[in-house]
Amino acid sequence: MKPIGVFDSGYGGLTVLKELTQKLPAYDYYYLGDNARAPYGSKSFDTVYDYTLQAVRWFFEQACPLVILACNTASAKALRSIQHNDLPKIDPEKRVLGVIRPTAEVIGDYSNSKHIGLFGTEGTVSSNSYSLEIKKTYPDVQLTQEACPGWVNLVENKEYDLPESACEIKMHIDRLLEKDPKIDVILLACTHYPLLENEIYKHMPDKIQLISQGEIVANSLENYLHRNTDMEKRLTKGGSRTFFTTGDPGDFSEKATFFYGENVKASRINLI
Ligand code: DGL
Repeated sequence: MKPIGVFDSGYGGLTVLKELTQKLPAYDYYYLGDNARAPYGSKSFDTVYDYTLQAVRWFFEQACPLVILACNTASAKALRSIQHNDLPKIDPEKRVLGVIRPTAEVIGDYSNSKHIGLFGTEGTVSSNSYSLEIKKTYPDVQLTQEACPGWVNLVENKEYDLPESACEIKMHIDRLLEKDPKIDVILLACTHYPLLENEIYKHMPDKIQLISQGEIVANSLENYLHRNTDMEKRLTKGGSRTFFTTGDPGDFSEKATFFYGENVKASRINLI
């Protein structure tokens, strides 16, 4: 079997996997959540890079020819080094793709005012990756970012509808809109945040639209496989989905259902 590998620090990437499997159901998929070491959002560049590279190597050992980093933090901090420095040495025939470039290439089309907001982890925001990538396709777009360090835990712990969570969510919305009141589109640049979408909408002016990445990444992968027929032919099409976690498989199965929308059973693996 030669599955597509999908990686996240924890559960967030399941929101992307859900869209990938809906759009491209025929392929086999391996999902790995590094739950034992999540969250990645506030960890250093070197740590996120080391952890992500370990995961990529693990996917390659499982015979995945293609790995998607379905995590903005890992895409921001590790993807470029892995693509440029590690991949040529490990196996130049394999590919690792991220979620930032595909999103940056289309996000400008959603905005009329060309003032776009972004919610992300501290790592994603401080890397400035989105500003750099968006400028390449949309030089006229003004991007304003807001790091929301507590939001991943709100989602992981299913605490998003508590009253104190509402305050935390509202605080970040207010801060972002104070920085730029002309924003008409906000990108949820963390794969966990789509689970907070309803809560965010409750505290936001009606005219603003939230954009999640799952569908964008799925469209981009479809396009990539269309253009890269050699890779497409290498991938097996048994329609299977297999789940792995570095954390507790029981916990993973219980929580993953909420992110993925279906019951899943996971196996534990160790990354080193
Ligand atoms: N879901 C990840 C992302 O898209 C980050 C979660 C974390 O902080 O580990 O950035």
